Amino acid sequence: MSQRQSLVAANWKMNGSLESIRQLLAAIAQGVNKETQSEVLICPPYVYIPELAGLLDNTEIRLGAQNVSQHNSGAYTGEVAASMLKDFACDYVIVGHSERRTLYGEGDVRVAEKFVTVQAHGMTPILCIGELLEEREANNTEEVIARQLDAVIEMAGIKAFNNAVIAYEPVWAIGTGKTATPEQAQEVHEFIRLRLARHDHETAETVRILYGGSVKADNAKQLFELADIDGGLIGGASLVAEDFLTICHSVR
Ligand code: 13P
Repeated sequence: MSQRQSLVAANWKMNGSLESIRQLLAAIAQGVNKETQSEVLICPPYVYIPELAGLLDNTEIRLGAQNVSQHNSGAYTGEVAASMLKDFACDYVIVGHSERRTLYGEGDVRVAEKFVTVQAHGMTPILCIGELLEEREANNTEEVIARQLDAVIEMAGIKAFNNAVIAYEPVWAIGTGKTATPEQAQEVHEFIRLRLARHDHETAETVRILYGGSVKADNAKQLFELADIDGGLIGGASLVAEDFLTICHSVR
């Protein structure tokens, strides 16, 4: 049996206000304690990171960002560098979220560059991968997942996955209320581990793979029970403290 520590991560996306995130965080922090089995992470919009860094100081909850520039510094208007996130105690950074890939044209190579940059600054990347509906319907899911993974393995090396998290987020399940069935999710998670195992068996066995895509309070448990699912990356349901806490406490 593997010893992987489960992780439940909130991706708040572009939601909230200073007032609402203070309230949400207070409610979440109250429910996360030493008894909480899972590691809990919150990824707020960039501008709220300093505020959350202060609020999370004496809690068990970790802080992360939703994106990062692949560059270290310079004339990149509107971008945020990894060193800046590190300055505010971020432990994790999401890279390659499907909304970045599809709405902002981030390709596999740029995502791999971001992955490398995050690690170079002592933080842990959460690499998001996942297929579009038409790719699944054309039976191309494994091909897409392999391509997205291989781009990072090629640039960062397989050992880099010893300090990384992977999030499988089927694009058709994000924000749609249409969760992957436990069978569909487990099948892809297993495929991801096998793909990594071609290079390094131990890395494949120890890397945490989260599921994301319409995880809710009432379906988290059946997903988190599966052998190769080590937690979740939660969008909509992470904006409701009670729901998010139920999900955090649904891990095996
Ligand atoms: P939803 O949970 O809202 O489907 O979003 C999932 C997601 O994109 C998390 O990164």
